[in-house]
Amino acid sequence: MPLDPYFSPSADGDTAFTVEAPKIKFGDGALGEVGKDAKALGMTRIALFCDPKIAELPAAETVQTALRAEGLDAVLYTDLEVEPTDGSFKAAADFAIDGRFDGYISLGGGSTMDTAKAANLYATYPDDFLAYVNAPIGAAKPVPGPLKPHIACPTTFGTASECTGIAIFDLLEMEAKTGVASPRLRPALGVLDPGVLRTLPAPVIAANGFDVFSHAFESLTARPYSHRPKADDPMKRPLSQGANPYSDIACQEAIRLVGAHLVRAVNDPQDEDYEALMFAGMLAGIGFGNAGCHVPHAMSYAVAGLVEDYVPEGWSTNEPMVPHGISVIVNAPAVFRMMGPACPERHLMGAKAMGADVSEVAPADAGAALADRIIEMMRATGMPNGLSGVGYAEADVANLVAKSAPQRRLLDNAPKAVREPELETLFRDALRYW
Ligand SMILES: [Fe+2]
Repeated sequence: MPLDPYFSPSADGDTAFTVEAPKIKFGDGALGEVGKDAKALGMTRIALFCDPKIAELPAAETVQTALRAEGLDAVLYTDLEVEPTDGSFKAAADFAIDGRFDGYISLGGGSTMDTAKAANLYATYPDDFLAYVNAPIGAAKPVPGPLKPHIACPTTFGTASECTGIAIFDLLEMEAKTGVASPRLRPALGVLDPGVLRTLPAPVIAANGFDVFSHAFESLTARPYSHRPKADDPMKRPLSQGANPYSDIACQEAIRLVGAHLVRAVNDPQDEDYEALMFAGMLAGIGFGNAGCHVPHAMSYAVAGLVEDYVPEGWSTNEPMVPHGISVIVNAPAVFRMMGPACPERHLMGAKAMGADVSEVAPADAGAALADRIIEMMRATGMPNGLSGVGYAEADVANLVAKSAPQRRLLDNAPKAVREPELETLFRDALRYW
């Protein structure tokens, strides 16, 4: 008997799954301990990558004071971009090579943590920039050995970059979003101090909260690992191995926490909401790190990449951009309506955990019930009204489909097959929700 009927065996499917668990310290005051953590990891000369906005806030002072208290030498680097590029990765790598550091600390969002990972890689094992970049754009060369220790301290929640060995950037000459991925890029320690969330604007809380929910729910409803074709070589089992009993535990609790806290955290935040959301972000990171996301994320890259004139409120930019969490959640209700019949019990579970009354909902309507609840929560937190809310119209659907269709790794992780015709239906359905 499988641990859950969802993981019933299939003819060519995998029969085992792996458990990847990042090392995390969580709780109020955790940032103040970072000096002792750095010392315990053997750091003496540290590259401190810090988001320029965060450098002005108390969190940066807390970290620097903690390092000084242990007599550790830290050099601050704040020349970071909101969306890292090959140029900003290379500049950070040059800084790291010149500095001869034996440890890295990052304090900021996903971009800051990813930049520190890349700098650590290229300073430790210098090579052509494209050598380590994911194929087909780069040569996907394996990282030759261990990197210098890196302590990642997120000042947002949701990206879960502190849990992963992935660093994402824009390769400007090809207008492509790509990255470097290796377990060796995973930080030695993630430090999650919920106090840092107090300074986040409400729209950022909303977008990140929905991103966390999507990580958790996409992982929960991913194709079960037992239905993913088994690789001939067990060492080639992908990180996105599909839903499994371990990721389920983390995802279910993450969804429950987002459902209980997100709307209040946006409209009338209490300290306990920040703690709950940061913990949910960590759990969802563990969930998608072991299972993988699927369609809402596959669609999000096109939504973010083809933006023309949408400038979000609450982000420190005047440039058109669709923040990641928004580019994901605008697709999600349409996806739930389509995917609901593939695993109705999981969609019902999600709807209930997000606060819907599902006592009268038939399994056939499970996806629609979850979509309705998410739409209600989007309205209660000021999210845009689907794709039309971020500037897209019917005429853009073909481009959105074309740009999403190559995301096979994510699309193949869905509970049922998604190709161009399904993507077209999804983008049309996501144009407007109310
Ligand atoms: Fe995400």
